[in-house]
Amino acid sequence: MMNDVFTIALSKGRIFKETLPLLAHAGIVPKDDPETSRKLIMDTNQDDVKLIIIRATDVPTYVQYGAAEVGIAGKDVLMEHGGEGLYEPVDLEIARCKLMVAGRVDEVAPDGRLRIATKFVNCTKRYYAGQGKQVETIKLYGSMELAPLVGLADRIVDVVDTGNTLKANGLKPLEHIADISSRLIVNKAAMKMQHERIRGFISQIQEAVVKNRKS
Ligand code: ATP
Ligand code: PRP
Repeated sequence: MMNDVFTIALSKGRIFKETLPLLAHAGIVPKDDPETSRKLIMDTNQDDVKLIIIRATDVPTYVQYGAAEVGIAGKDVLMEHGGEGLYEPVDLEIARCKLMVAGRVDEVAPDGRLRIATKFVNCTKRYYAGQGKQVETIKLYGSMELAPLVGLADRIVDVVDTGNTLKANGLKPLEHIADISSRLIVNKAAMKMQHERIRGFISQIQEAVVKNRKS
């Protein structure tokens, strides 16, 4: 009997690059390179395993609704999505960064309610609510670093790695919200329906993470 198709959702760029060795350890090798191909569904060396290449923020949604059995997403994206319908069995220890609050190096502490520009509106509200503060959020889809420079917001919430982007724009990190890395996520219903196969996949990926750590 043919196996059901097993679909893995991931985004191109750093997640794809850092995921390739983990997939290879699980015996999965894509047939195309998403940086050059326009295909959104990619075949692999295994007939019944496909990759779908989507925006990083859309990965939890595809997996939540079962359009892909598993996926790979940053913890930042998962915190923002909420994680409904998903298991998160493995920390892949890749694409590491920090979710932070940042402001202008020359900022005069703003009085009254803070205005925060971010792609992570839910995380931001939750973080400040935890401190008993109400903030005004402005939803952006990228280049958050610009907002405090042109008076759109007092501060931003964004991911920071080297801090170079903040520095290049006259901003400084102010508060640490969370350490971020990418996670393997699994659709809850698929975990029941394809238990053996998904369990096997999870343990191969876990092994690859340990191997990566040693290299
Ligand atoms: P999109 O372009 O679709 O809006 P994105 O720009 O967030 O998404 P990527 O830049 O590929 O997509 O980031 C994917 C994930 O990698 C993020 O969700 C985050 O967890 C992590 N990440 C983002 N920036 C960095 C960085 N500079 N260093 C390390 N990890 C990062
Ligand atoms: C991400 C993020 C920050 C930057 C932080 O952007 O949005 O702007 O990395 O990294 P740093 O602290 O090392 O400078 P990315 O490079 O992914 O570009 P993007 O705008 O395409 O997301």
